[in-house]
Amino acid sequence: MWPARDFMWNKLTGTIPKEIGNIATLKLLLLNGNNLSGSLPDELGNLTKLNRFQVDENQLSGPIPVSFANMTNVKHLHMNNNSFSGQLPPELSKLPNLIHLLVDNNNLSGYLPPEYSMLQGLRILQLDNNNFSGNGIPSTYANLSRLVKLSLRNCNLQGTVPDFSPIANLSYLDLSWNHLTGHLPTNKLSDNI
Ligand SMILES: *[C@@H]1O[C@H](CO)[C@@H](O)[C@H](O)[C@H]1NC(C)=O
Ligand SMILES: *[C@@H]1O[C@H](CO)[C@@H](O)[C@H](O)[C@H]1NC(C)=O
Ligand SMILES: *[C@@H]1O[C@H](CO)[C@@H](O)[C@H](O)[C@H]1NC(C)=O
Ligand SMILES: *[C@@H]1O[C@H](CO)[C@@H](O)[C@H](O)[C@H]1NC(C)=O
Ligand SMILES: *[C@@H]1O[C@H](CO)[C@@H](O)[C@H](O)[C@H]1NC(C)=O
Repeated sequence: MWPARDFMWNKLTGTIPKEIGNIATLKLLLLNGNNLSGSLPDELGNLTKLNRFQVDENQLSGPIPVSFANMTNVKHLHMNNNSFSGQLPPELSKLPNLIHLLVDNNNLSGYLPPEYSMLQGLRILQLDNNNFSGNGIPSTYANLSRLVKLSLRNCNLQGTVPDFSPIANLSYLDLSWNHLTGHLPTNKLSDNI
């Protein structure tokens, strides 16, 4: 049994084997800071005990698998600084324990799923430096009541800024380098901004 795997800050190259999806007891999969390439195997979605999935700072590409919606215990999804492309799967809104969703510095496109407002434990959402081709920030994100950091810098977003004032602990909001229009909400954004 491998209760945890920690390969971070090595010089691993090649692809992530789909067989890792068979290690049903796995709680940590930390592969960040390597030189991994290729796409994420759908089979990783079978890791229903996984608490933390970190593959940030590699050269991974392809889509973020819809199967990750099956990682029902995952709290941390760190996938920033790769070359992931395509649509953010709306199905990830079904992850009841998600705290950090970091997918900044990739090549994602499509729209920001309004369904992510169901992620009621989410504290950090980082999407900077992707290309959401002129779509807007869903107004439902004002319901992300636990959010502390929302970073959407340089995402090619358009439209108006939702009223984030209901999010009591929002303390970091970066919306720079987009094409947003309209006014900021006239009432204060948040008590702790
Ligand atoms: C990653 O791979 C690229 C291309 O194979 C190579 O140029 C680079 O030095 C590697 N980086 C590390 C940190 O091993
Ligand atoms: C394992 O993952 C594959 C690929 O996503 C999927 O087809 C299969 O149903 C999964 N198996 C289980 C037991 O969840
Ligand atoms: C999620 O898990 C279920 C049950 O094991 C499986 O049938 C389904 O194929 C999985 N979904 C994906 C997208 O892999
Ligand atoms: C991720 O990529 C950005 C943009 O290229 C870069 O500024 C940042 O330093 C990278 N982050 C890490 C932790 O390497
Ligand atoms: C980003 O994705 C687009 C397709 O959406 C593709 O044409 C382009 O080559 C990708 N760029 C990088 C740097 O991966």
